[in-house]
Amino acid sequence: MTDNPTRKGANRRQFLTAGLAAGGAAATASVAHAAGDPAILEIKPWAQELGEGVDARPYGTPSEFEKHVVRRNVPWLTADPVSSVNFTPLHDLDGIITPNGLCFERHHAGIAIVDPAEYRLMINGLVDRPLVFTLEDLKRFPRVNKVHFLECAANSGMEWRGAQLNGCQFTHGMIHNVMYTGVMLRDILAEAGVKTTGKWVLPEGADASAMTRSIPMEKALDDCMVAFKMNGEALYPEQGYPVRLVVPGWEGNMWVKWLRRIEVGDMPWHHREETSKYTDLLGDGKARRFTWEMDAKSVITNPSPQAPISHGPGPTVLTGVAWSGRGTIPRVDVTLDGGANWLQARMDGPSLDKSMHRFYFEFNWDGKPLLLQSRAHDSTGYIQPTKDALRAVRGENSIYHNNGIQTWYVNEQGVAENVEVS
Ligand code: MTE
Ligand code: CO
Repeated sequence: MTDNPTRKGANRRQFLTAGLAAGGAAATASVAHAAGDPAILEIKPWAQELGEGVDARPYGTPSEFEKHVVRRNVPWLTADPVSSVNFTPLHDLDGIITPNGLCFERHHAGIAIVDPAEYRLMINGLVDRPLVFTLEDLKRFPRVNKVHFLECAANSGMEWRGAQLNGCQFTHGMIHNVMYTGVMLRDILAEAGVKTTGKWVLPEGADASAMTRSIPMEKALDDCMVAFKMNGEALYPEQGYPVRLVVPGWEGNMWVKWLRRIEVGDMPWHHREETSKYTDLLGDGKARRFTWEMDAKSVITNPSPQAPISHGPGPTVLTGVAWSGRGTIPRVDVTLDGGANWLQARMDGPSLDKSMHRFYFEFNWDGKPLLLQSRAHDSTGYIQPTKDALRAVRGENSIYHNNGIQTWYVNEQGVAENVEVS
């Protein structure tokens, strides 16, 4: 149904089904339309003329009516776009897969444009045979396909001291969930032959920031991938074309893009991105280091500040996403009243390891203000904490790894706002 400005009575539509209790049976929002609706009676231009033929769009793009569905940044957050971030429009997406063109971007030195013909991956350090692979060489190893979320450790970092940014795109949008095609890092390391003294790897990016992170050998041999495709097609330049490292469940900073070298060593390197950055300053002034795993987290994407309830009281679909760096999300609870009553949401779609999960909660909105929250449970039994519980352990100095429960206040008009109830 499309709402045009002449149909202002839309929020007084009569629902054929009524009286559904919160958390009750699925709402069927059948709508009795006003007689004389021009959207039905008029013959539209698209029904009177032939459309564009095949090949008009050799590479398809979304409908022109979806132009608002874009990544966005917060200009005052960073000094310069080459070392900055933009955010995935979570409130405009559904299911679990992030379309390639909408994956948030985080670059420390802009987007490197790497010619695949000149692409090389070097393996050196504590190995029997230092090796250099071309892209074609990499594609001759056995391939795997895995869906994983990538969350920047700084996602929700602005929210430590209280509600800040008005929209889940900005509070939670440093995440994307993509199906990667690539080869297992362990197969490449085996080709080079890791010496028994080799306990750590140091992936390095080919961009001007030469991003490096120390990764323990157990993780490198477990589930890390050297990926060249996302959602079936070549990686986008923003995401590290032609090759990036995939480090499932671990903070996004370790997923080195434009991967050019992997050094094997016997100790962590303590480079910039694991000392001055990506450590967590605790209340007592000490810094926690190596907090690689992303804890279970969730957010309601609709309703939310960028996606108000526009249809008025009655059957309402609440939805959101949840994820954990330690496994799957068997359960998400939601509350409509700021945590007084928790109700179990309905999970839908694939439940994959270290991947985003989708939840829904259908309820009959009575038009009264709501305080919406969601709380993820992961497959280890861990339950997403309140922000207060998190601050009790971590203090208020942190930036990274904020997985606290998010609250949206929804007023009688359906307008939503970022608030904190802890
Ligand atoms: N790799 C390189 N080479 N250069 C970078 O700036 N940024 C890191 C990581 N890998 C970065 C990098 C950070 S902090 C994050 S959160 C992710 O890439 C972001 O990946 P994306 O741009 O695909 O969202
Ligand atoms: Co990051």
